[in-house]
Amino acid sequence: MIQATEKIWHNGKLIPWDEAKIHVLSHVVSYGSSVFEGVRCYETERGPAIFRAADHARRMLDSAKIYRMEIPYSIEQLTAAMADVVRVNKVRACYLRPIALRGYGDMGVLPQNNPVEVFIACYPWGKYLGQESSSEGVDVCVSSWTRIAPNTLPALSKAGANYMNSQLIRMEAAINGYAEGIALDDAGFVSEGSGENIFVIRDGRILTPPLAASVLPGITRDTIMRIARQLGFEVVETLIPREMLYIADEIFFSGTAAEVTPIRSVDRIVVGNGRRGPITEQIQKRFFDVVNGRIPDEFRWLTFVAGVPATEPVTA
Ligand SMILES: Cc1ncc(COP(=O)(O)O)c(C=O)c1O
Repeated sequence: MIQATEKIWHNGKLIPWDEAKIHVLSHVVSYGSSVFEGVRCYETERGPAIFRAADHARRMLDSAKIYRMEIPYSIEQLTAAMADVVRVNKVRACYLRPIALRGYGDMGVLPQNNPVEVFIACYPWGKYLGQESSSEGVDVCVSSWTRIAPNTLPALSKAGANYMNSQLIRMEAAINGYAEGIALDDAGFVSEGSGENIFVIRDGRILTPPLAASVLPGITRDTIMRIARQLGFEVVETLIPREMLYIADEIFFSGTAAEVTPIRSVDRIVVGNGRRGPITEQIQKRFFDVVNGRIPDEFRWLTFVAGVPATEPVTA
C-alpha cells in the first residue's frame, strides 16, 4: 500500500493529500490522457537530494508537447515544486510522482477543452523488483506482448496510455512466475521492460537498444551510459536480437524505480554465471555512489532540499 504523506502540489499550491482528487468523468479516466514522471529523492549526508529533477521535468514537458498538452510551468518551476513537496512532507528518501492530466470538461475524445491539471506527490518507496533484487538479480521472460509500435503510441512520451501495454507485459510475467517481462519491438528486436530500460553485456561491450526501438528515453539509461563510459567501457546503442539475451555475459535493467537491477535468467536460460556480473556490479556501485552523493556531483544531477529535519535514529 502507498504510504501517504501530508501534502500534494496541485497547480502551484500545496493541498492536503486526501484532497488531491479528480472527477470520474475527467478526460484522463476514459482516454488515458496523462503524462507523468517517476523521480527518486535520495538521502545524502547533505540532506535529501532529488536525482536529475530538471531532466525529469524536461521529459514531462516533452511528453506533453507531443500530445499538444500545455503545461503552464517551466522546467525551473517544476523542479522547485518537486523540492517544495519533499521539504513540506519532511521525507528524506522518497519517490516523486509528477503528473499532468486532462481534467473535467468535455466528454468527447478531442481533448482541447479539458483543463490540464498538474499534481506532484511524494511518498516513501523501497526496491521495485524485490528487496534482494539489486544484489541477487531477477528472473525475467520475453513477453508475448509486443512493445507499442512506432507511429501508434509515441514511446518517447511517458504517457499514461502507454502503460496499458506495460500492464499486459507485467501481468503476464507475474502470472508465469517472473519478476518482469522484456518486450520486443514491432520488428522483433529487444525493446525494454514494462518499466525499465535494458543493458546487455557481451565480451566487455555494453549494448542498449536505440530510442527507435520503441524505448522510453530513460533518465537512468542516460545516467548509466555516462557512468559506464567514464569507467572506460564501450557503450553502444544498437538493435539487439532476442537471442542475444540468451548468450549475454550480463544483463541489467535500469530505471528510476528499478535503479540498476541485474537479470540472472531470461526464459529460464541462465545469464552468465546466474549472478550479478562484475561489470554490472561496478556500474551499480558507481550509480549508488552518485545518487547518494558519496562522490562529487560533477554533472550537477542532485537537487538538494534544505530544511528537512534528520530522521530519528532507529533504536532497537
Ligand atoms: C517503460 C519504461 N521504460 C524505461 C523506464 C526508465 O526510465 P527512467 O530511468 O527515466 O526512470 C521507465 C520508468 O520510468 C519506464 O516506465
